[in-house]
Amino acid sequence: MKKSLLAIAVFSLTIIGCENKKTTEKGTTPTEKPTLSSMTYTDHHSFSKPNEAVVKHLNWVATVDFDKKIISASATYQIENKKGVDSIFLDVRNLKITSVSTDDNKDAIGFVVNERADFLGGQLAIPIDESTKSITINYETTEGADALQFLDPEQTAGKKSPFLFTQSQAILARTWLPCQDSPGIRFTYEATVTVPKGMLALMSATNPQEKNETGVYTFKMEQAIPSYLFALAVGDVEYQSLGSVTGVYAEPSVLESAAYEFADMQDMVDTAETLYGPYQWGMYDVIVLPPSFPFGGMENPRLTFATPTIIAGDRSLTALIAHELAHSWSGNLVTNATWEDIWLNEGFTVYFENRIMEEIFGKDFANMLALLSYQDLQDEIVWLNSENRSADTRLRVELEGRNPDDGLTGIPYDKGFFLLKLMEETVGRKNWDKFLNDYFNEFKFKVMTTDSFLEHLDNNLLSQNPEWEKTIQPRKWIFEEGLPDNCPIITSTKFETVESELAKWTNGGEAKAIPSGDWVTPQWLHFIHLINDTLNQKQMHELDAAFRFTQSGNSEIKAAWFEKVIPNNYNGLGNSVEDFLVEVGRRKFLTPIYKALLKSNGGLPAAKAIYAKARPNYHAVSRESMDALLTNK
Ligand code: BES
Ligand code: ZN
Repeated sequence: MKKSLLAIAVFSLTIIGCENKKTTEKGTTPTEKPTLSSMTYTDHHSFSKPNEAVVKHLNWVATVDFDKKIISASATYQIENKKGVDSIFLDVRNLKITSVSTDDNKDAIGFVVNERADFLGGQLAIPIDESTKSITINYETTEGADALQFLDPEQTAGKKSPFLFTQSQAILARTWLPCQDSPGIRFTYEATVTVPKGMLALMSATNPQEKNETGVYTFKMEQAIPSYLFALAVGDVEYQSLGSVTGVYAEPSVLESAAYEFADMQDMVDTAETLYGPYQWGMYDVIVLPPSFPFGGMENPRLTFATPTIIAGDRSLTALIAHELAHSWSGNLVTNATWEDIWLNEGFTVYFENRIMEEIFGKDFANMLALLSYQDLQDEIVWLNSENRSADTRLRVELEGRNPDDGLTGIPYDKGFFLLKLMEETVGRKNWDKFLNDYFNEFKFKVMTTDSFLEHLDNNLLSQNPEWEKTIQPRKWIFEEGLPDNCPIITSTKFETVESELAKWTNGGEAKAIPSGDWVTPQWLHFIHLINDTLNQKQMHELDAAFRFTQSGNSEIKAAWFEKVIPNNYNGLGNSVEDFLVEVGRRKFLTPIYKALLKSNGGLPAAKAIYAKARPNYHAVSRESMDALLTNK
């Protein structure tokens, strides 16, 4: 039933930019650069029909109302009517549309919304004719705007001003902007946003660096972006520059520690450019959001949104910044055509992140990160298999009739990373880096499907040596389940040290005697992951007393420790698990901790009681996942 409905909903698209009269053939002469055969694909998650009429530019005029917790806006779109059709179709969900007009029909015109009660929302059909150049929609957001989180002052660091942030990826943009909400459709935008005086508004665009008297801020995004990168944050935030194109925004009480933590940002941008070509977006700034932000980071162009939980005080969690920065190439520049191709965004980005980290912090450090990724990957495959979701262990996932969020497992990240690492090892770093540089350059501001990527890979890399394809077997990685047996093996002497020290302790050694003075965060994470679930209170106390895990200012260490102390019924915790779950809304931390609670003796009522308290603090993204985990249990 659901399936057949969806079949009408989706669009199929031939990308003109990649259209080629001649289909690529294997035997093309070297002087004639092979080009892609035309790219056709179906996005199961958009009702728009961009090959008929498409949005090219948006002028967004909006007011943020913190009392009503809504945005009211007027959106004017420059459109291109490609086929002389009589309607343009946009995605909407839970929006209150008050009026629609066009440049050639200034009076309010009729429009149709067919909305379903699920994550897809509905199709807004607006009548146009061949000569229509622009349409204007006046609308308000509602309580059902899942992209938005309006925070009360108590949920911020300063406790004085409210806060608003958005999270559009994957298909939440349609809950605060009528749009053609498909990653393959790009538009430029300008915006005028009015907020209460004393607050600063920031977008994925050119940004102000200080507050003004009026509370009215203007923005421009001159590079075309897909809707999932449309973003807004409003709060009592200030700016500090960190380098020629880098800087950080945070609430005043957080700004100094944020600037300290991200001191390497300019170096990261410079390094990324040396690796894979020019940074195309002008500024690269980061905003540190309140702790309910549901992700670690989000790569909104020119302004990465970040969780405050990466501020550890010792710059040890900044791989996340390298990751979001890397998306400025893999994702924001060359964009996955649909959410089924998300490994093209995330896998490439984890690989690129690892290369940035290697350049700045050395091979040993990058290796440790890669090994943690390998362990996560193995755990993820075991878990997906146990949930009867083996099909989701393929790099290219099938999401027809499903929420794109279902495809957001560790697979596109970690399996994607290891496929790229295997390519690097097989063809040699020099060839691989040249291939990637050319790839980002050739497809910048364009869309990529898994099939087109494979075709491009064959033509531009694998064709150079018949052995490479056989060694790598990319199609096996992409279309088959599980982890192929040619996965690169990573070793780390730094991790071996951790393993032998833990073994000594398990065999009766003293925790205090472990020579851990120079251990870095990945080593501590490895140490904690290896602690087994059958320790006694004395042993748990000994570890905690020696290394102060429960009190750690490092959120990754703390969260990993909580995953161990719950099954070990450690009684030295006080309210720390509850306090953490109530304060932090980052889904990556919530899921494993709630899961550990559910599994433990008498943990179900405890988990439910904590969740009842914490839920009002969570963004819709985390709420939805935790509801699925905890209700009807
Ligand atoms: N773009 C993602 C977050 C995302 C993906 C949101 C899909 C919604 C749908 C972001 O770049 C990301 O991967 N964040 C990770 C960072 C980590 C891998 C370093 C996170 O939030 O944990
Ligand atoms: Zn990412």
